[in-house]
Amino acid sequence: MSSPRRPGSQPSRGGRAPWSPRGERGRLPPVSRALGSFQLGHQDNIPSCTPVQRALMLLTPSLEKLQAVKCRMLEAMDKGLSRQTHAQATVRMLPTFICSTPDGTEKGDLMVVELCQSHVRTLFVTLLGDGNQSPQLMYKIFDMPADMLQGTGEALFDFIAQCVHKFLEEIGSPQHRLPLGFVFPFSCRQTGLGKAELISWSKGFQCSDVEGKDVVQLLQAAINKLELYHVQVIALLNDTVGTMMASSWGGKPCEIALVTGTGTNSCFMAEAELVEVVEESNGRMCVNSEWGCFGDDGALGDVLTPYDHRVDQESSNPGERRFEKMVGGLYLGEIVRHAVLMLATEQALFVGASTSVLGAKDAFKTQQVLEIMDNETGMAKARSALEALGLQPSERDCCRVQQICRAVVSRAAALSATGLAAILSLMCRSRELERLVVNVGVDGELYRAHARFGEILQSVAGLLAPECTATLVPSADTNGLGVAMVTAVAQRLLTQRHEVEQLLAPLRLSRADLERVQALMRQEMERGLGRDSNADASVRMLPTYVCNTPDGTERGDFLALDLGGTNFRVLVVRVMQEGIHMASEIYVVPTSVMQGTGEALFDHIVECIMDFQRKQNLMEQVLPLGFTFSFPCQQLGLDKAVLLTWTKGFSASGCVGQDVVQLLRDAAQRKQHVALKVVAVVNDTVGTMMACGYDDPKCEIGLIVGTGTNACYMEERKNVGTVEGDEGRMCINMEWGAFGDNGCLDDIFTTFDRMVDEKTINAGKQRFEKLISGMYLGEIVRHILLAMVDKQLLFRGKPSLKLQTRDIFQTTFLSTIETDGLALQQVQGILRDLELDASFEDSVLVREVCQTVSLRAAQLCAAGLAAVVEKMRENRGLAQLAITVGVDGTLYKMHPHFSQNLQQMLQDLAPNCAVTFLQSEDGSGKGAALVAAVACRETSP
Ligand code: BG6
Ligand code: GLC
Repeated sequence: MSSPRRPGSQPSRGGRAPWSPRGERGRLPPVSRALGSFQLGHQDNIPSCTPVQRALMLLTPSLEKLQAVKCRMLEAMDKGLSRQTHAQATVRMLPTFICSTPDGTEKGDLMVVELCQSHVRTLFVTLLGDGNQSPQLMYKIFDMPADMLQGTGEALFDFIAQCVHKFLEEIGSPQHRLPLGFVFPFSCRQTGLGKAELISWSKGFQCSDVEGKDVVQLLQAAINKLELYHVQVIALLNDTVGTMMASSWGGKPCEIALVTGTGTNSCFMAEAELVEVVEESNGRMCVNSEWGCFGDDGALGDVLTPYDHRVDQESSNPGERRFEKMVGGLYLGEIVRHAVLMLATEQALFVGASTSVLGAKDAFKTQQVLEIMDNETGMAKARSALEALGLQPSERDCCRVQQICRAVVSRAAALSATGLAAILSLMCRSRELERLVVNVGVDGELYRAHARFGEILQSVAGLLAPECTATLVPSADTNGLGVAMVTAVAQRLLTQRHEVEQLLAPLRLSRADLERVQALMRQEMERGLGRDSNADASVRMLPTYVCNTPDGTERGDFLALDLGGTNFRVLVVRVMQEGIHMASEIYVVPTSVMQGTGEALFDHIVECIMDFQRKQNLMEQVLPLGFTFSFPCQQLGLDKAVLLTWTKGFSASGCVGQDVVQLLRDAAQRKQHVALKVVAVVNDTVGTMMACGYDDPKCEIGLIVGTGTNACYMEERKNVGTVEGDEGRMCINMEWGAFGDNGCLDDIFTTFDRMVDEKTINAGKQRFEKLISGMYLGEIVRHILLAMVDKQLLFRGKPSLKLQTRDIFQTTFLSTIETDGLALQQVQGILRDLELDASFEDSVLVREVCQTVSLRAAQLCAAGLAAVVEKMRENRGLAQLAITVGVDGTLYKMHPHFSQNLQQMLQDLAPNCAVTFLQSEDGSGKGAALVAAVACRETSP
């Protein structure tokens, strides 16, 4: 945290504490001017110091001292936020579960009940969903019997319920469900918007049997007793939250509020991950600081005066709420009384008169203190107040009492500012901003009664948190609309949450769903392997003629091609005893070529090979070539692969049903490039398994989660009904992307999946792949977002033309948006690039959609893989299988949570398999070269 000035420097221009009581020049007695230049801690040594001067000095802490208090406040706040120390913290930093400010779409009837110091206020508000332009509002105030504050809790809540009843009767309210927000300005432990246990009473309240109880339930029970069952208490709010919302009125969002009324408190919008006691790391949440208790552990020791100690000792809760007792209006009159009393005892005031009247509690009211401060009428007020106590004050006495009053109120303002500065610095720090610009809603009679209070608040906060610009917005909430808005927001959020949950529910798979997917995959695998059932199976289980994983004896130089993923690559791979060396080049395959004619596609491939050979000086050599061709092929041998169907956006004509090796050779001939010797063609899964198998002999599965998704594994040859021979194993390219193309997964597909599928060039095909792989996830998210806009759940229901564009929401956005610790401003930035004006809540929701879609993808992938590892374990008759999966693909590699979600779910679904994931580093081209190397080894004499 930065400090506004170096220690030892002067607190402000001219050395005068900026909040020190301001009086008119000339009229001010010398003592007041002296007050300007003091530094606390030195005043005791000033020989000429009079008792009055000393009292004023004690009441005017220096800026350095306030700076130190701010640091301690920040420490206390950090303690309150941290899970470990929350329970013992003096500043409790209570979560309010309010995560949103009004957005204008709030709509409907609602009710608010506010418990105040001496009355209960009831409100009925109708919002029209018109941007809150013309809310209709009725309210009534019910005076509360004074003895109620110390009566039973039951009596208090019955009284409040009766107010509700009477009010509703008077206004003839409708009988439909009426959400009610309850403003309860005491410190509560909330576990939800509508669940709040009273921690402790304050401000003179001490009703029995309420502390430790859920206040929402108490009120609801009292309301139910009166048979008002349609009134439903949905939210409990602290008064500071109401102030924040009320000040947010009219397009100026306030993210901090402070109240300096009878008591004092503040709230602010904190980054959700700061609020450790709540398991929520997305977005922001309003935190009720309950800073009134700051100092209860002694943290205010060096600013407390003897007057404060006396006020505390005579209060109903000695030792507690020390900060509030220096700042809250309930106590200022008492501080003044004790200061005046001690000065009178020292004969510095009312010389010679009896001052015993000053010994009586509450002889000075805070209201009088505020009146006495006034420049014009203050002296007269001082006189009449003192005379009313039976004193006969001199002009000098009145003047000094006025100075004391000013010092006490100014100190309250300066201390509020100190707390505010702590909040500002905390927000600035946690949002990682260089400069925080923020609006602060302010309310409470102290702030309203005296303009100087606001000036001091503003200037001291500015000095103590120079990295922040805070604009004070006085709450104009005379009718309680702010509080009503909170209830409206709460109601909107409840409804919205419900709708969001409904929309996302089909995408959230249960464990039972996943077990079923696993069982279905297993069933389809068996069908794919069976000689007779193969033709109808959605999982093709294609033999690859790769029967061994590398054993390390492979040698030689090879060319490799890698077609079908994000990049088309040509490589030269040198397999030596010391290891493998590779050089490669990435070439672009334009969409027009992907979707043009087969001839053009293979001509393009051969041109790239020739370009590469030229660059690598390999034109003269005839190197054996391994071809990674990442599409489903019926292999008739290691170097003969008939394309079954295109996937992943390819559709070049004249290729399906053809041997792709032959197509390549034909193109080479057309280009008169005779030096091409294709020895092996492999799927990318196989290439990946082989590449990883070179480093880990346990690697007997290959997995791709990239543009598409697929897996291969080593199957017992005797199980492969589609090839002759029973000995050993053969790698099977599952082509699991097509799982479900026969309808077996239909109940898992959501409307969004169907919309995505319909617009692809292979509708109805590759249905499993379209739930999992990178080519489709962004599109699924986009369709969900469109549905949310449609339901007014996002972007205030404003449609964006760009969001309606296919493929505009790329899967890389999911990876970025879901990155841990990514500030939501950055999410907003991504959305802004899509011309989406996202609010903070919008960003949180977009993130949730991304998380839901990518989690489902990872879990489905796990279900598929669980079927594979379990089958392998059973094949081998093992109780436990230890195996490695070689894995590749941009989604798997780039997404921040995919791999973890996949691995967790896999472990859950296949607990008897210890599966290690080995990420392929150099792509499957290397694997293709290894397959070529094995082939060459086997054919050489
Ligand atoms: C690469 C392989 O490493 O991964 C490709 O070399 C494969 O053959 C790819 O298709 C899969 O990932 P993506 O994300 O590029 O589709
Ligand atoms: C598609 C292809 C498959 C490939 C996978 C991953 O599913 O059909 O052959 O392995 O994408 O790239």
